[in-house]
Order: sequence, then C-alpha cells, then structure tokens
Amino acid sequence: MSETFTKAMARNIFYGGAVFFFLLFLGLTFDTMQQLPSRDHRENITDSVVRGKHIWETRNCIGCHTLMGEGAYFAPELGNVYVRRGGPFIKAWIQSQPTGVPGRRQMPNFNLNEQELDDMVAFLKWTSEVNTNKWPPNIEG
Ligand code: HEC
Repeated sequence: MSETFTKAMARNIFYGGAVFFFLLFLGLTFDTMQQLPSRDHRENITDSVVRGKHIWETRNCIGCHTLMGEGAYFAPELGNVYVRRGGPFIKAWIQSQPTGVPGRRQMPNFNLNEQELDDMVAFLKWTSEVNTNKWPPNIEG
C-alpha cells in the first residue's frame, strides 16, 4: 500500500509544485521591481527625454533600427549610439540624411528642428545609460 503512487500523492505534487513555483515567480518579480530603479535611472528622465522618446515613436525609428535589441534589423543598433558617436555627431547625422552614398542603405530626413534634435539626443543618451547587463551582446561600445 505504501509503495503505491496514489492519485492523492499525484494531486499533492501537482498542487505543491504549483504553489511553490507561483511563490518563486512572485519572489523573482519582487526582486526585479526592486532592482529596476537603479538600473533604468528613471530619475534622469527629463521632459527632453520624454519628448525625444515621442519623436522616436512617431518617426518610427524602430521600423529600421533596434533599440536594446528590439526592433528591425535594417539599420544599426542605437542603444549605445550615444556612447559610440556622441551628441554632436548624432545631430549632424540626422540632419544630413539621406547620404545618397551608392550601395549604402538610406535613412530618410525627418526635418527635425534644433530642439527636436536635442530631445532625440537626450533620449538616446538616457537609453545608453540603462544597465541592460550588456544586452544585446556583440555590439560595440
Ligand atoms: C528607413 C529606415 C530608417 C529609419 C526610419 C531611421 N533610420 Fe537611422 N539609419 C538608417 C540606416 C540604413 C543607417 C545606416 C546608414 C549607413 O551606415 O550608411 C542609419 C543610421 C543612423 C544613425 C547612425 C548610427 C551609427 O551607428 O552611427 C543614427 C544616429 C540614426 N540612424 C538615428 C535614427 C533616428 C533617431 C531615427 C528616427 C528619428 C532613425 N534613425 C530612423 C535607416 C533608418
């Protein structure tokens, strides 16, 4: 009798496992929520960063680029572009599109004004400072 694997035992393993992993899930979620503020530096999200994010979304930059690995693979990852290139380069780059260089993929001109360019740079600077545990892998910077 004691050697038999009963229905009651199977049920206990099922419910016990479900409760255990649900509690583990809650614990890990709590741990993540605790870590996020120091990783995303939300205290640095200025109005300019917010406006830059809005430009990022309304101009569909992510339709060609990835940001922290998310997006399209037509154009370079931009999560680290601020570190690689710096603000002045990014502004000059956006203004001088399309380059028209034969054989190179082209980026449209978005006719951004000086304020919008600064906002775009502010957003990309904030993005570059988010601690993503070096995600995505294999990119410079
Ligand atoms: C239609 C596709 C497309 C869209 C939309 C687009 N880009 Fe690009 N972007 C490109 C391509 C292609 C390149 C690389 C061109 C090259 O290297 O000659 C590029 C390069 C860049 C670079 C330089 C990257 C580097 O590593 O030096 C920056 C900065 C940039 N884009 C910002 C933006 C921003 C900001 C937006 C939205 C406002 C945007 N792009 C929207 C296609 C696009």
